[in-house]
Amino acid sequence: MIKLYNVNVSFFGEKKALDGVNLKIAPGEFLYITGESGAGKSTLLRLIYADLNPTRGIVMVDGQNVSNMNHRTIPYLRRSIGVVFQDFKLLEEKSVFENLRMALEIYYLKPKHMEEKIYPLLKKLGIFVKRDTIVKKLSGGEKQRVAIARALINEPKVILADEPTGNLDNDNADSIMRLLLENRDKGSTVIVATHDQRLMEHFPARMVELKYGKIKHDSLTGSTQEKGEDDED
Ligand SMILES: Nc1ncnc2c1ncn2[C@@H]1O[C@H](COP(=O)(O)OP(=O)(O)OP(=O)(O)O)[C@@H](O)[C@H]1O
Ligand SMILES: [Mg+2]
Repeated sequence: MIKLYNVNVSFFGEKKALDGVNLKIAPGEFLYITGESGAGKSTLLRLIYADLNPTRGIVMVDGQNVSNMNHRTIPYLRRSIGVVFQDFKLLEEKSVFENLRMALEIYYLKPKHMEEKIYPLLKKLGIFVKRDTIVKKLSGGEKQRVAIARALINEPKVILADEPTGNLDNDNADSIMRLLLENRDKGSTVIVATHDQRLMEHFPARMVELKYGKIKHDSLTGSTQEKGEDDED
């Protein structure tokens, strides 16, 4: 359902952020994108939700070419994608509840029904007591959990989580992972960008390692880009 064909991304005047990346992700798959800082993890995720066009190559999401998407069709694509941004991108002056309410696709729900959707998720993430707190007053780890709740609230087909456990202690990180896996079990495709080795050992899954914008190793295919693998079919 997500395919990258020979994708390059160059930012003006910089070395390539992604360099000849070929990747196929099946529907309902859970995988890690890993690699050191600057390897291209966030750039790869940005391509999938059409926040960035590749300089070269094609990105397909659910049968649609999103590499060069019309601005009017991008919102439709994004409805099926939940994103946990590395820097959260929350509305800092609004409460936790407001942030989630504004993300709800069905925004005409009665207040009681909104609560029925939002409260259980906040409880699962351990931030229910903070529901009426203004986001800017939260700790980094609390903000991270609000960002995760917002990404999951509409039960999207695709979940992109950029370092979703970066600010969390092990217990909280583990419960986030279990929540993401629960979504995978319900049919979502989940892509987690992380350099947290402990997490990957604790919750083993397909691991795609980037280095200098190339796929250094893919644990599913066993392939490395350096070998010049051909992409069949
Ligand atoms: N908007 C931009 N303009 C110029 N260069 C950029 C831009 N965004 C990313 N880059 C460069 O592209 C490369 C890959 O960046 P990216 O953010 O994808 O790395 P990352 O793997 O997510 O790193 P981290 O683990 O630190 O989040 C880096 O060298 C970075 O400096
Ligand atoms: Mg990043």
